[in-house]
Amino acid sequence: MTTTDRAEAGPGTTVAPTTFRHFIAGEWVETDGGTTFESRNPADDRDVIGRFQAGTAADVAKAVRAADQAALLWRRTPAPKRGEILYRFGAVLAEHKERLARAMTREMGKVLAEARGDVQEGIDIAFLMAGEGRRMFGETTPSELPDKWAMSVRQPIGIAGIITPWNFPMAIPCWKMMPALVTGNTVVFKPSSDTPHCATLLVELMAEAGFPPGTVNLVTGAGAEVGDAIVENPDVRVISFTGNTATGRHIAGHAARRLKRLSMELGGKNGIVVLADADLDLATDGIVWSAFGTTGQRCTAASRVIVDRAVLAPLLDRLSSRARALRLGDGLEPATDVGPLINAAAREKVEEYLEVGRRDSELVTGGGRPSDTRLAHGFFLEPTIFADVEPMDRLAQEEIFGPVLSVIPVDGYQEAATALNQTRYGLSSSVYTSDVNTAFRAMRDFETGIVYVNAGTIGAETHLPFGGIKDTGNGHREAGHAALDTYTEWKAIYVDYSGRLQKAQIDNQPS
Ligand code: UN1
Repeated sequence: MTTTDRAEAGPGTTVAPTTFRHFIAGEWVETDGGTTFESRNPADDRDVIGRFQAGTAADVAKAVRAADQAALLWRRTPAPKRGEILYRFGAVLAEHKERLARAMTREMGKVLAEARGDVQEGIDIAFLMAGEGRRMFGETTPSELPDKWAMSVRQPIGIAGIITPWNFPMAIPCWKMMPALVTGNTVVFKPSSDTPHCATLLVELMAEAGFPPGTVNLVTGAGAEVGDAIVENPDVRVISFTGNTATGRHIAGHAARRLKRLSMELGGKNGIVVLADADLDLATDGIVWSAFGTTGQRCTAASRVIVDRAVLAPLLDRLSSRARALRLGDGLEPATDVGPLINAAAREKVEEYLEVGRRDSELVTGGGRPSDTRLAHGFFLEPTIFADVEPMDRLAQEEIFGPVLSVIPVDGYQEAATALNQTRYGLSSSVYTSDVNTAFRAMRDFETGIVYVNAGTIGAETHLPFGGIKDTGNGHREAGHAALDTYTEWKAIYVDYSGRLQKAQIDNQPS
């Protein structure tokens, strides 16, 4: 029995919670600081999942040393061989998918089908990046001089600091660690303090798959302690972070002073445009899934519906009856459609927006905590829809990260596109229309890194670039081939086999 299995005793058991450890240099170790913190089930906060090490700067220093010691051997391991370990990891994840998904639902609340999808995204990126071990193409190109060879190759940067959120507690760490590792970097991984158990399970399986000691190091604990120590450490040359824009700015400030490579996935305020010629049933399905899936806690969640007035009334009818029918509960129960929010603070933040909405807009459905006493120990909120929202209202501008949807009426495509783009974020967007010309206009005009036609705003696949423009990020992309750019340096190599001094830009010029 592994240490992590014991934590799966589940709600209602009286077994004392297991204490989990950091993973540094291939060993499960305790923090230098001697303190631990708890992770609890957001659907029932009496259920303690385990205790985790409250990491310190000294723990991070140890992890960085371990990553540094492993780096030379790892970068010299042929990339196809590194890729083989990623293949094994993908296969191990697939073998443990159900166990991982259940642990995820218990720790962060999303319904089981979505948790399985989260693990599946980890599997997908492991297999995609495993293949990069045999691609990772550079270029060969003619030299301007005779008897001279010119080419470029990708090289690892060194140590990657991976700082991840709780909403995709397995997929997002895999999106980051798989490209970092296949390209020959070693990793120091700090997961969100809301999902340390998911991270522990993942790292345990990475060790099982054969990543050598020191290539992957896990340090749990607070952002202000562990996260900052990773960002400040001069030996960590690349940071990848997914989280809110405020934390992203904080990290960017520190990373910039040290001239580090930095890839950031930050906030979103994603909109779905529904035009007068849309299939309203199809649009309703996409909106409900995008707005209330993962309890609205996705960077790609739809929080705005921008709808042509011609179809406002029938769309609102459909949306409100569907939202009202969604069943709240523990994501492990098969009947549950929508799980809890991640913690008490998250629910309070969303509740503040419910107040704003009641004041400025028209409440259509939801708007508070459910009355069902069986849900009293979880952080539940009803799926909520506000109508009559203006594009510049707070509800339509600020990232809420909860089950709150704002409906914004407009007249025609142009007004819709303008409203859609009137936000400082730019991650995902969607248009529902039956006119192919309008669809192509939207694909051109919508200012987001991802655009969907006749589908909701969620459902990104791992072999395409993932990320956003404006305040959603800093110009990098995850997944796809683009992820390789985050974790590699280009090296240009010239080989002169002429046996004489040849001067570029000077010799062989027209006189
Ligand atoms: C996120 O919300 O942070 O497209 C990631 C999607 C998922 C990934 C979301 N495949 O919604």
